[in-house]
Amino acid sequence: MEPDLFTNISNNEHEEIISLRKELTDANYRYYVLSQPTLSDKEFDDKLRRLQDLEALHPEWSDPNSPTQKVGSDLVGGKFERVKHQYPMLSLANTYSQEEIQDWLHHLPENVEIVCELKYDGLSISLWYEDGYLVKAVTRGDGVQGDNVLANIRTIGSIPQHLDGVPKHFEMRGEVLLPWERFEALNREREEQEEPLFANPRNAASGTLKLQDVKEVAKRGLTCYLYYMLGEDLPAETHYDRLATAKQWGFPVSDAIRVCHSIEEVMEYIRYWGEERKKLPVATDGIVLKVNNFRQQVSLGFTAKSPRWAIAYKFPAEKQLTLLRAITYQVGRTGVVTPVANLEPVQLSGTIVQRATLHNEDFIRSLSIQAGDRVWVEKGGEIIPKITGKEGETNEEGYHYIFPETCPECGARLVRIEGEAAWRCPNEEGCPPQIKGKIEHFVSRKAMNIDGLGEETIGLLYDQGLLRTIADIYDLKAEDIARLERLGDKSAANIIAGIEASKSVPWARVLFALGIRMVGETTAKKIARRFRSVDELQWATKEQLMAIDDVGEQIADNIIGYFAAFGNIEILTRLKAAGVQMSATDEETPLGTALEGQTIVISGTFTQHSRDEYKVLIEQYGGKNVSSVSKKTSFILAGEAMGPEKRKKAESLGVPLVSEEEFLAMLSNN
Ligand code: IVH
Repeated sequence: MEPDLFTNISNNEHEEIISLRKELTDANYRYYVLSQPTLSDKEFDDKLRRLQDLEALHPEWSDPNSPTQKVGSDLVGGKFERVKHQYPMLSLANTYSQEEIQDWLHHLPENVEIVCELKYDGLSISLWYEDGYLVKAVTRGDGVQGDNVLANIRTIGSIPQHLDGVPKHFEMRGEVLLPWERFEALNREREEQEEPLFANPRNAASGTLKLQDVKEVAKRGLTCYLYYMLGEDLPAETHYDRLATAKQWGFPVSDAIRVCHSIEEVMEYIRYWGEERKKLPVATDGIVLKVNNFRQQVSLGFTAKSPRWAIAYKFPAEKQLTLLRAITYQVGRTGVVTPVANLEPVQLSGTIVQRATLHNEDFIRSLSIQAGDRVWVEKGGEIIPKITGKEGETNEEGYHYIFPETCPECGARLVRIEGEAAWRCPNEEGCPPQIKGKIEHFVSRKAMNIDGLGEETIGLLYDQGLLRTIADIYDLKAEDIARLERLGDKSAANIIAGIEASKSVPWARVLFALGIRMVGETTAKKIARRFRSVDELQWATKEQLMAIDDVGEQIADNIIGYFAAFGNIEILTRLKAAGVQMSATDEETPLGTALEGQTIVISGTFTQHSRDEYKVLIEQYGGKNVSSVSKKTSFILAGEAMGPEKRKKAESLGVPLVSEEEFLAMLSNN
């Protein structure tokens, strides 16, 4: 029977509705969350109107999630959506033994082709495509259900959001990774802010994928490799050809994939990549072998946990036995004393290792390690080599390790706070690495950002007796600096200019720069918003402090402890006298909430205040000043002789104009 004309039209319209909803949702996301719009305002509006018209014609297809029903949002929501996998996400049988790999190969049908791939060490992800659109990105979860982390996955530029000419429904699976370089930078930043470090890139990628703040995820720089396509009616007879097709469609598929025809070829691949992988930008922990032909895959089938047609060979963690010459102790800026293994140098993953962290006293005791032992050093997914054990048995009677009682730098008696693993030097004001560390933190980029005053110069100035506290920075003279080794008049002038400029660093950053334990950049901002000056903060009670988001008991105690030290009060007084911003300026002080959530464009000339004054007022009343008109503009603060282009645009988008008088009335009503 011929399909009737109406059914055909409405089918097309249904498809159009679905595809417009997806496209507009995607555009909203790119606009609001990534701040990278893909459609012009006009295109967006035309499509939205078309969608509204179609939905009005077909109320039976209404959907509360349609972009016509909602405003764009930059919230990912409190939690992720739980999603059941369309095909369970299985793991792979794995082995560290090349012999077992050979056995596995021997048990396969003759002349079978094997695809060899790198085993990426990240988090598995399942990307769902419908009608060419990426609609879900589900983590492995428990293999049966996972979390939909689509918003975070969309920050990975190499993952296509939309494709033409692809099957109606399919899934791409692969691995989300944080490249080594990004991982190291992230840890450096976390160290600076006294946040716990990620042990390896996989943990960092996993922590990143779970964040609710998409902008932060975007900053971290995740990447992805895809290695498996699932669905019905998919192209190609073999895994290799299918991945090649996926690559052609635009998916990030690794170049390191080979079809092998013999055990020798497989072994050669393992040998080659065992070395070459060390040069890759991302972490790998083995090789995956897969039967290439899908018919052969089907006849081999699955066990309950993994496919019989694939196996993973895991690289051995690189390990070396070497002599532990001595344990030395390093004192950080906050006084934590970290034991360090000084080793007879050994080659490990292409680098020479002669130092490794021993973390803390309990760690050393748990392995019964002492100087003179031969110890195992390993370099796995971590960048910092670690000691994992020692050669031979421990003779408890011969074990005499004692953690030092006094600070190796200043001789003060160490203290160990209950519940913490670390020993600390309490001599904050007199212990050289703590003093220098605090100054280094104070001048660092995210704190006072004093250019030119690096670790080395601080060391020299300290040796000269010119720097003992952060307040001494503001007493430095150009001649003092120019006299130092390797520094001349020019660098001295630069540093002095940097010090001068630091006097306009806002209060929130000054608070972070003070280096109060556990008060990182974000916490400092939150505290500074509540306590508008150092004087207010000084008298804050524990309860008041703990009422601030992010401030728990420990941080509150640290803040109170900081102000209880007389030396700190003296430093603060000197900083204030030097002109450092110890309170929020008027511009940072909110005057009201009349403009909260509003995006305002200023255009024309005004009689009561200058444009710059209006900009400040907008901020002070919680609004946001932007320069160009769009459909997101709440209103235009319109003065005399407003630009004709802006007026036209405002009219076409229906953005209201507000006169100077009306605007001031809005504020005074607040
Ligand atoms: S195939 C049914 N290929 O390793 C087989 N997995 O231990 C699906 N992995 O959960 C997996 N690189 O997260 C495959 N080239 C690769 C891989 C790979 C890394 C991960 C994946 C999987 C785990 C299994």
